[in-house]
Amino acid sequence: MTDSLTVRDNRTGAEYEIPIVDGTIRATDLGQIKTADDQPGLATYDPGFLNTASTRSAVTFIDGEKGILEYRGYPIEQLAEDSTFLEVAYLLIHGELPTQEQYEQWVHEITYHTFVHENVKDFMHGFRYDAHPMGMLMASVGALSTFYPESRNISDQDNRHIQIVRMIAKMPTLGAWSFRHAQGKPYVYPDNDLSYTENFLSMLFKMSEVKYDPDPRLAKALDVLFILHADHEQNASTNAVRSVGSTQVDPYSSVAAGVGALFGPLHGGANEAVLRMLRRIGSVDKIPEFIEGVKNGDERLMGFGHRVYKNYDPRAKIIKQQAMNVFEVTGTNPLLDIALELEKIALEDEYFVKRKLYPNVDFYSGLIYEALQFPPEMFTVLFAIGRTPGWLAQWQELVTDKEQKIARPKQIYTGDRTLEFVHREKRWA
Ligand SMILES: CC(C)(COP(=O)(O)OP(=O)(O)OC[C@H]1O[C@@H](n2cnc3c(N)ncnc32)[C@H](O)[C@@H]1OP(=O)(O)O)[C@@H](O)C(=O)NCCC(=O)NCCS
Repeated sequence: MTDSLTVRDNRTGAEYEIPIVDGTIRATDLGQIKTADDQPGLATYDPGFLNTASTRSAVTFIDGEKGILEYRGYPIEQLAEDSTFLEVAYLLIHGELPTQEQYEQWVHEITYHTFVHENVKDFMHGFRYDAHPMGMLMASVGALSTFYPESRNISDQDNRHIQIVRMIAKMPTLGAWSFRHAQGKPYVYPDNDLSYTENFLSMLFKMSEVKYDPDPRLAKALDVLFILHADHEQNASTNAVRSVGSTQVDPYSSVAAGVGALFGPLHGGANEAVLRMLRRIGSVDKIPEFIEGVKNGDERLMGFGHRVYKNYDPRAKIIKQQAMNVFEVTGTNPLLDIALELEKIALEDEYFVKRKLYPNVDFYSGLIYEALQFPPEMFTVLFAIGRTPGWLAQWQELVTDKEQKIARPKQIYTGDRTLEFVHREKRWA
């Protein structure tokens, strides 16, 4: 067996041998396939990158058929069960789990960078009263590049490290302030006595009390949700971070691009759609009618199905458990009964079984966020905070990868050629 592909170009009869490495061929190897020396070489056409690898990566492994997700080789179930979000962030960024000393140092560094420059507060105050928190987050994380101009020196490892720490530390502050802004409430400064997620809850919900005392079960649920969202290999927002980062711009600008991509309803918005769907169904007895509508193609069962997972999304199981823990604190949500029954019916129904449609990460996350009193506009902000270490791990991998170049795809030009320009005075005469 030879690890190569023999290609015969039926236009010319010429044959080419193209190496296969890691189950891929190099698209540039196709460039030698030409009908004549002065003609362009063969290229591939792949809108949406359905079958194109853009990078080698050692950050996250997914096997969608089997429902496996691993960060740096560790199964997501074990990380969600036994680690903390900051430990996972360390793992993603550094490639290995921290020693006790490294962990304490890392937590200390992140904790002591949660404050933002006072000017950031003024800047955020400038947004309209009804500004979408995700728009505020995108703008304010991008604005951090103006506060840390040295972040442009991306080839210096120490410099990269400090920007990574700053961003992981400050995203909850920016996210919480965006939330408070929309509510017309004063921004709450970080409390460095609290853990990462406890402090986030404090910045979100603290009012006149001297010290905010978050329920540990809620803080834990949020921590687990952040872990589950921390990375997902080359998803749309990570691709945006990498694409912008490939220009060698500073990491704040790259992450702002990632926040922008995540803002889109095809990426970060499905859990809100799940809530709307559950509300529309309204009660358990309406489920059979709804399922019939889905099977007739009138609508989709939101929170089911995934481009990559053709099995139970491993994150969905963990989120379901966390939803139960949260409802223990907040009291149950009637929508939960509908969700549970819907899942039960769908997992047994031939339509869904045949198409390998299983609950995805969004099926239960919206219910948790709602129970934690977040309005739907905040759902993607929470996602962005969780995804930040993943974006940064991928950004760091990109800027240290000698094989990477500025991301600049080819196109198939379909427009006119060599038209003759007529001055507007003549055209409009
Ligand atoms: C996630 C999603 C976009 C993946 O889409 P995809 O990989 O392009 O899959 P397809 O749209 O080709 O679906 C394959 C088949 O399953 C059906 N299907 C897919 N998701 C479905 C859903 N949620 N409800 C009902 N039917 C669904 C399609 O109609 C299609 O059926 P057909 O073969 O009879 O035409 C899709 O499953 C979906 O829209 N899910 C609901 C939204 C959601 O939860 N998104 C969050 C993802 S994390």
